[in-house]
Amino acid sequence: MSNEKDLMEKIVSLCKRRGFVFPGSEIYGGFANSWNYGPVGVELKNNIKQLWWKRFVQQRSDMVGIDAALIMKPAVWEASGHLKNFSDPLVECKNCHTRFRADKIDITKPCEICGKAAGFTEAKMFNLMFKTFIGPAEEQANIAYFRPETAQAMFVDFKNVLDTSRKTIPFGIGQIGKAFRNEITPGNFIFRTREFEQMEIEYFIPVPKSDEEWNKYFEMWRGNMLSWIKDDLGILPEHIHELEVPKEELAHYSKRTIDFEYHFPFGVDELYGLAYRTDFDLKNHSEKSGQDLRYTDPQTGEKYLPHVIEPTWGVDRSVLAVLCESYREEADRVYLSLPPKLAPYKAAVFPLLKNKPELVKKAKEIHLALSTSNLALGPIAWDDRGNVGKRYYSQDEIGTPFCVTVDFQSLEDNTVTVRNRDTKEQPRVGAGELRDYISKQIY
Ligand code: GAP
Repeated sequence: MSNEKDLMEKIVSLCKRRGFVFPGSEIYGGFANSWNYGPVGVELKNNIKQLWWKRFVQQRSDMVGIDAALIMKPAVWEASGHLKNFSDPLVECKNCHTRFRADKIDITKPCEICGKAAGFTEAKMFNLMFKTFIGPAEEQANIAYFRPETAQAMFVDFKNVLDTSRKTIPFGIGQIGKAFRNEITPGNFIFRTREFEQMEIEYFIPVPKSDEEWNKYFEMWRGNMLSWIKDDLGILPEHIHELEVPKEELAHYSKRTIDFEYHFPFGVDELYGLAYRTDFDLKNHSEKSGQDLRYTDPQTGEKYLPHVIEPTWGVDRSVLAVLCESYREEADRVYLSLPPKLAPYKAAVFPLLKNKPELVKKAKEIHLALSTSNLALGPIAWDDRGNVGKRYYSQDEIGTPFCVTVDFQSLEDNTVTVRNRDTKEQPRVGAGELRDYISKQIY
């Protein structure tokens, strides 16, 4: 356990040291549980989001995407059941007044913060939605809520999407965006925060006549999620655990949920979820809005409210799982064995010596060709500080798969060394073949 705690500390420290994730509002002493993605963190996070969008929205003929407002009309949250049901049980230590989620601690034991057995207050249900006011008057009539899930806009916009996209059922709507929850106990770095990002899909299916009918789609998405975890994030299947959520713990909208849990250093916990939401949301929005949200089957003319399978992914938890999975320590270095597609930089280019203009000139040309031509590889790092060993070390720590060094031989025969992050091998490659050589290994 202490090794695992160490590992988490090492990852948090690497994130700060190399620019993946910084503590929020740090120069003012920090702001608990708020985190900012730095220069390489934003690249890693964007790569995850872009890969997801490509794979699940752009490359599928049964999917479209939207990007909706973060603050929706409060009536949405009434209809969705969030105002009534989106709550966690809160208790307070009678000695130190620290607040906990009652379902996450053993209230018969002493408080884990002050160590006193003073007992806890009665559990009270605490709604997790973040409140704000629209306009200058802070009064009841102007209350609005930041969305606690991206899902609802996909139900509220269902008819608009249907009328404009010519999709037929089964089809899905995908969205990536921020969600907000006033969590009672945020923590474990970017694992549980109050402001986070989700990638969600609402997949609309015909009204199932049997459990097998909805299960067929549920299984399809289960397979898609597992292959995303393995093929895109590079996570070993044995590090994933599927939890069948017990009936009594299901969210208010779900008939069945599987949590995909990851072996984080602080314990096995939820990475993603897959739920069968039935027609719960469309039915409630139809009733509360008075709008007919039924789908008309183009073949039979039958009108019905589709049922919904919802696969949902947390972006920040994806980042954390990828960092944990790829962290490696060797005697002389620390490196991230990130899948090259996710790496913030696809390669780094160095002139062997900074004070030799001919080396710098050639290295600059190579850097420009790799990063800005029509056939650009993606972001390419440039480093001319310190010696080459130090540059390798710092690129290893951010997971750059290849380091290209321009040396004196390069001026003679137009070759460069390409050092491989994982094997440390350094073959010489012709400058003209460099792009293809790297691209083949990344894509
Ligand atoms: N629309 C369904 C839904 O929101 P959820 O299980 O509450 O389901 C989906 O959230 C995913 O969002 C989770 O699997 C997790 O990856 C991520 N997530 C939820 N709460 C989070 C938090 N406080 N901080 C970071 N990520 C969170």
